[in-house]
Amino acid sequence: VYEQNRKDALVNISIIGTGRMARGIAARALAGGNTVTVLGRNEAGAASVAHDLGGGVRAGAIGEALDGDLVVLAVPYAAVDDVLDGYGGQLSGRIVVDIANPVDFSTFTPLQIEAGSAAQELATKLPASRVVKAFNTTFAATLNHGEVAGQPLDVFVAGEDEDAKRSVAQLVEAGGLRAIDAGPLARARELEALGYLHMALQQPLGTGFASAIKVIA
Ligand SMILES: NC(=O)c1ccc[n+]([C@@H]2O[C@H](COP(=O)([O-])OP(=O)(O)OC[C@H]3O[C@@H](n4cnc5c(N)ncnc54)[C@H](OP(=O)(O)O)[C@@H]3O)[C@@H](O)[C@H]2O)c1
Repeated sequence: VYEQNRKDALVNISIIGTGRMARGIAARALAGGNTVTVLGRNEAGAASVAHDLGGGVRAGAIGEALDGDLVVLAVPYAAVDDVLDGYGGQLSGRIVVDIANPVDFSTFTPLQIEAGSAAQELATKLPASRVVKAFNTTFAATLNHGEVAGQPLDVFVAGEDEDAKRSVAQLVEAGGLRAIDAGPLARARELEALGYLHMALQQPLGTGFASAIKVIA
């Protein structure tokens, strides 16, 4: 029964972007036994991720048909509109995972977003998709192994649709991480602030983007 439940929980994941987070999330998704496609604007970048991760990751070019039930936008906040221009219609009905920390990196200042957060803004642009905020507080390098100091990473998950959140939580847990339901999509505002704070603490703590935010009890 456990194996059957586990199989039922596996999903087909498309990751748009081929950078550090795409690699980290793909690594955890593969570890969980999911099917992963990585799509890049530069197909060679996607091929390189697929080659490095092995395990049957499929590489493709942004623009080709999406087949994932769950689509992760692993591009900078400023690039999301470009992705939507190419994919808007195809994102309808799918779970779209927003991992962005909206920051002006030239001044390291958080961007003020009228909707409250990048994820809420995305949800207004994709009314027919189920937008979930996740992975914005986990640094890319820590996702490669999924743990820091022997402790599984916590991944905070926020969204309106309970089934969509459950699917993202299953992806997280199958990859050996702990999913924490952070509530409705409006909580993305606090999660994005937490993601910013975690980045801001790297220099004073000297942790080199290898730390994790974890709730312990
Ligand atoms: N790095 C972290 O530890 C971390 C942690 C939490 C959340 N995040 C968030 O994760 C997201 C990705 O960050 P990252 O660190 O993975 O960035 P990254 O390593 O710089 O990779 C960014 C990816 O986005 C692609 N891209 C950029 N502009 C694009 C456009 N206009 N159209 C299509 N693709 C475009 C890049 O393609 P090219 O390779 O062709 O340039 C690259 O594949 C960001 O929103 C960030 O805030 C990052």
